[in-house]
Amino acid sequence: MGDHLDLLLGMVLMTSPVFGISPCWFDGRMAIYHFCNLTQVPQVVSTTERLLLSFNYIRTLNTSSFPFLEKLQLLELGTQYTRLTIDREAFRNLPNLRVLDLGGSQIDFLHPDAFQGLSHLLELRLFSCGLSDIVLKDGYFRNLKSLTRLDLSINQISSLYLHPSFQELNFLKSIDFSLNEIHTLCESELTPLQGKTLSFFSLAKNKLYKTSSGDWGKCMNPFRNMVLETLDVSGNGWTVDTTGNFSNAISGSQIFSLNLAHHVMGSGFGFNNIKDPDQNTFAGLARSSVIHLDLSHGFIFSLNSLLFGTLKDLKVLNLAHNKINKITDQAFYGLDNLQILNMSYNLLGELYNSNFHGLTKVAYIDLQKNHIGIIQDQTFTSLRKLNTLDLRDNALKTLNFIPSISTIFLGSNKLVTLPKINLRATFISLSENRLENMDDLYFLLQVPHLQVLILNQNRLSSCNHRPTSAKNLSIEQLFLGENMLQLAWETELCWDVFKGLSHLQILYLNNNHLNFLPPGIFSDLTALRGLSLNSNRLTVLSSDDLPSNLEILDVSRNQLLVPNPDLFVSLSALDITHNGFICVCELSPFINWLNQTNITLFGSPADMVCTYPDSFSGISLSSISTEGCDEEEVLKSLAFSLFILFTVAVTLFLTAVLMVIKLRGFCFICYKTAQRLVFKDHPQETEADTYKYDAYLCFSSKDFEWVQNALLKHLDAQYSDKNRFNLCFEERDFVPGENHIANIQDAVLRSRKIVCLVSRHFLRDGWCLEAFSYAQGRCLSDLNNALIMVVLGSLSQYQLMKHQSIRGFVQKQQYLRWPEDLQDVGWFLNKLCQQIVKKGKKKKKDNNIQLQTIATIS
Ligand SMILES: *[C@@H]1O[C@H](CO)[C@@H](O)[C@H](O)[C@H]1NC(C)=O
Ligand SMILES: *[C@@H]1O[C@H](CO)[C@@H](O)[C@H](O)[C@H]1NC(C)=O
Ligand SMILES: *[C@@H]1O[C@H](CO)[C@@H](O)[C@H](O)[C@H]1NC(C)=O
Ligand SMILES: *[C@@H]1O[C@H](CO)[C@@H](O)[C@H](O)[C@H]1NC(C)=O
Ligand SMILES: *[C@@H]1O[C@H](CO)[C@@H](O)[C@H](O)[C@H]1NC(C)=O
Ligand SMILES: *[C@@H]1O[C@H](CO)[C@@H](O)[C@H](O)[C@H]1NC(C)=O
Ligand SMILES: *[C@@H]1O[C@H](CO)[C@@H](O)[C@H](O)[C@H]1NC(C)=O
Repeated sequence: MGDHLDLLLGMVLMTSPVFGISPCWFDGRMAIYHFCNLTQVPQVVSTTERLLLSFNYIRTLNTSSFPFLEKLQLLELGTQYTRLTIDREAFRNLPNLRVLDLGGSQIDFLHPDAFQGLSHLLELRLFSCGLSDIVLKDGYFRNLKSLTRLDLSINQISSLYLHPSFQELNFLKSIDFSLNEIHTLCESELTPLQGKTLSFFSLAKNKLYKTSSGDWGKCMNPFRNMVLETLDVSGNGWTVDTTGNFSNAISGSQIFSLNLAHHVMGSGFGFNNIKDPDQNTFAGLARSSVIHLDLSHGFIFSLNSLLFGTLKDLKVLNLAHNKINKITDQAFYGLDNLQILNMSYNLLGELYNSNFHGLTKVAYIDLQKNHIGIIQDQTFTSLRKLNTLDLRDNALKTLNFIPSISTIFLGSNKLVTLPKINLRATFISLSENRLENMDDLYFLLQVPHLQVLILNQNRLSSCNHRPTSAKNLSIEQLFLGENMLQLAWETELCWDVFKGLSHLQILYLNNNHLNFLPPGIFSDLTALRGLSLNSNRLTVLSSDDLPSNLEILDVSRNQLLVPNPDLFVSLSALDITHNGFICVCELSPFINWLNQTNITLFGSPADMVCTYPDSFSGISLSSISTEGCDEEEVLKSLAFSLFILFTVAVTLFLTAVLMVIKLRGFCFICYKTAQRLVFKDHPQETEADTYKYDAYLCFSSKDFEWVQNALLKHLDAQYSDKNRFNLCFEERDFVPGENHIANIQDAVLRSRKIVCLVSRHFLRDGWCLEAFSYAQGRCLSDLNNALIMVVLGSLSQYQLMKHQSIRGFVQKQQYLRWPEDLQDVGWFLNKLCQQIVKKGKKKKKDNNIQLQTIATIS
């Protein structure tokens, strides 16, 4: 029952503040009456331990308000919408109450005996109750023997004269007076606290000492004889003078952690009229054993010499969010024990060798979010204990050194390359830089004892192949997401980048435009447990691709159309959502596996949907039945039976919406079929011409296989009887042994059209470019457009224009691009056929022939 109710409660609590719907509910131990329009305490069972009555209209509390609740430990009465009157001994019937919360309720009348009888009360929350000084002066808290925490923040208290009974509160540890109106504080006011050790004392945001001045002699030390673990005097707008006078006044009191944040010390940027703190400002703290000093959120522009000279015990110094631009020589002298220095969010532009002198024990320097563009190379060398350096979000373009410390953050800079120096580190983050050359990756992987390397969001893409000494490399986690490894790998270089990483456990390769995985790329990764290939363009995964001990694999957002489930059986978790599955019978092993697998599948079924055939488009794999895909019939039958869980209307709607985009390929085929039927009775005359070939296909031999599948099989007559074109290409039609140029010239002259299939390989192939120029020459001499250019893959205009002959063509004439979407291929091929049969302008003729070529395509 418990679980069920918690769930219910969660739902109601979420909605109730908005809609005023009441749960108003209790069980044996807990009673919740938020927003229940109560005007008095409800009847609850005597076993109740927590009673939550906030957000109601309770007006009075007196001895008879509560039934006797011996077990009650927590009572919340905060935020009553009426003004509250609390009579004497109002909580008398709650003898074991530990926490009483009245925060946010406006208390009009509080009887001095209101809290009497609460001898076990640990925590009293009276924040924002409209209370004045009287609550301290008149002994309201006497006899609260166990009281540990007292919250009186956000009231109208203006002076801290404490009733002598505070002396008896032996367990009192934490008092919060923040956001009151305490403008002065003198020794006489806090005498009842003398001799005590408090863990927390807050006077934050009171405008303390803002107006008074010159009373320091009379006022003496408010914290005399006290030990304060944390004193919070932040947000009082203190100047250098006030801070100096305060430090002197409290001299000798032990304060381990002093919070002076949100001050107004310092000249700020571009001003001179307000002083920066100097060596006198904190001198008074010499005997206070301050370990932690917070000076963040101010206007300090220059760290003056010997500023912290007396703070021998200081271990943590927070200077974040100031305007520090200058670090004077000897600024940190005296901080012999400092371990953590936080100078983030300042205005530092450069670091000099002498800046951190004196910090002999510093272990962590946080310099993130400055504007550091240059660092002198000995800056960190004298800091023997330094182990963490945070230089994130600066403006570093180059580094000529990297300190050999264990943890280095260099993310979000502008680094283009790294110095090749001896380096030791266990953690290096270089995310969001501009590293481009894989050499930097090879270099970093060699760093001895490196465990974590973060290189997300760089531009790793170029590879100067060089032999690597794949030793026993120590790296365990490698983050390479959002780079451009595809560009490196498609040159067939850098395929050994993961060699020797036998300790690697986690590898991120997401968002790298990968459309293939180099063979054996992961073969050394015997310890790899987690691999992310998220958001790439992979279309197939084979069992050789995946490392043998992989447990968690993320291949979501790829183009795995028909994944093979055998690949995944040894995993413990898999994310394969957002792939464009093709729902034909070949997919049924995968669908069946999904239905019964034990492994954790990330994402919801709605993220695994078919994209093809169109009738299944958008339908979740989990609602598809594989019945009818018998094993012997797998290849034959494309028919799936389909459960549509909701109404047919939903499907119709979806189909209609997707029609224009998704069905364009299908529509085209219908159109063509119809056209062919109409034209059947009007056979086209084939014109006889002098050319031996219809077209010469010029492409790089590296693309042969692709060309064969994508073009030759659909166009060339020798590949299929249904095709009508007589094509010419090097692999088949060139005369062996004859001069290559002669072959090319021959092919160009004897073909009606020259189709150049311009791919990345094409651009690198001298013969192809030669053929291109030659064909272009023929166009000029014959004054026709015999040359057809088809761009394959994602070559940019810029890449094309780099080659002179192609530039000339591109500037004058149109070229074709191979379509990205599979369903557009039919349309494209048809267009290409038309171009091939088209006559040049010179001999004008009917170019409407042989549209039926298309019939061979689908
Ligand atoms: C409380 O009063 C408001 C206004 O009259 C009403 O809308 C709301 O439903 C009441 N809530 C309960 C729990 O009775
Ligand atoms: C307590 O308050 C209630 C409601 O205002 C009132 O009816 C009752 O008489 C009071 N009891 C005492 C003992 O004052
Ligand atoms: C600081 O103390 C000096 C000497 O007691 C006094 O002259 C000065 O006004 C004080 N400054 C402030 C801001 O309280
Ligand atoms: C330094 O201060 C910034 C800003 O307050 C904070 O985000 C960061 O975590 C701090 N660094 C350390 C090491 O505490
Ligand atoms: C490889 O390195 C690990 C620690 O990184 C070490 O324990 C192991 O002995 C090394 N093996 C060889 C063959 O060097
Ligand atoms: C999933 O498997 C269960 C049996 O384990 C079977 O009853 C159910 O029909 C299957 N669902 C689909 C969609 O194949
Ligand atoms: C599912 O897990 C159980 C126990 O962990 C195991 O016996 C069973 O073979 C697993 N089934 C599959 C399909 O992996």
